[in-house]
Amino acid sequence: MILMQKNIAVIRGDGIGPEIVEQALLAFDKIGELYGHTFTYTDVDMGGIAIDKWGDPLPTDMLEKCVNADSVLLGAVGGPKWNDVPGDKRPEKGLLRLRAGMGVYSNNRPAKIWPQLADASPLKASIVAKGIDFIIVRELIGGIYFGSHTTEEVNGEKNAVDVLQYSESEIERIGRIGFETARKRSGKLCSVEKSNVLDSSRLWKAVMHRLSAEYPDVELSDMLVDNCAMQIVKDPSQFDVVVTENMFGDILSDEASMITGSIGMIPSSSLGASSNGLYEPIHGSAPDIAGMDMANPIGTILSAAMMLRFSFDMPAEADCIERAVSAVLDAGYRTADIYSDGCKKIGCAEMGQRILENMRKE
Ligand code: IPM
Ligand code: MG
Repeated sequence: MILMQKNIAVIRGDGIGPEIVEQALLAFDKIGELYGHTFTYTDVDMGGIAIDKWGDPLPTDMLEKCVNADSVLLGAVGGPKWNDVPGDKRPEKGLLRLRAGMGVYSNNRPAKIWPQLADASPLKASIVAKGIDFIIVRELIGGIYFGSHTTEEVNGEKNAVDVLQYSESEIERIGRIGFETARKRSGKLCSVEKSNVLDSSRLWKAVMHRLSAEYPDVELSDMLVDNCAMQIVKDPSQFDVVVTENMFGDILSDEASMITGSIGMIPSSSLGASSNGLYEPIHGSAPDIAGMDMANPIGTILSAAMMLRFSFDMPAEADCIERAVSAVLDAGYRTADIYSDGCKKIGCAEMGQRILENMRKE
């Protein structure tokens, strides 16, 4: 067995961020104990806390710590306290700058139902029974979130403009991730866009079809984003790998997570050209329950598992965490967001603790 030493940049962030990240760090420590690796942590301020401390949602030295680490774990950022700060100083801007600064253009968001949580899905049992197991590959550092944003007075009223722009090469690099992900799964790739209206989507579609000639083993289909939003609730079993641009992926991944029971369960990885990735649950900072020991730490703990798998090449260690999560769900323990009748409701720290107790080397 190769013993590894890894330094992880840790962004606890705002709201429930610190509580959920704490549980994920305990899981890393436990993996270290079980498998003999050493994980060290470098604290990074980002989001509202960085605005309060440094007047900037992501100071340059904080970004550097992330770029220099072996990988980055993030809880969540944002909250009502910073709602009125100017757009380019908002906590979310720190996250966007971090993604761009690390060059992580490919965001992988799995939507997979845990059989134990079938009751927590808002979909009818007959739809859930057909299976929900797909991945949204979201372009992460281009498109409208990164175009210019301006608000100007025109003819005596305010006009706001947000620019949505994609180059062929930006589309191609995320398209390849889509095809390669599909190749490792069922060989089906669905490209989602709005080519009946948007030029950027027409270019997207053209690039995907050009690329498809290089991946003859992958069956490419196209879907308009509004139809996709409908199909996700009508019959999610039809999807395996979805590839889409930044804003569509943001919206569809929230929808896809909800049908699996709770957004609190879903981890994500963001990767670019190097193995240094950014791992975060896809949910937000949930300021309404912050500090109340009510949050679900599973999305963050599963993000830690994804880091082990995709950045550190430690598949057995990732499996160990995922098995433990499954065992705790089997035993009927639930945080409030995934609670259903007959289960045992527990808090964030106890959920983390129970997962630790179930982590065993196979
Ligand atoms: C997400 C979030 C972020 C995004 C926000 C907080 C900037 O919604 O990770 O999905 O839009 O990407
Ligand atoms: Mg989002």
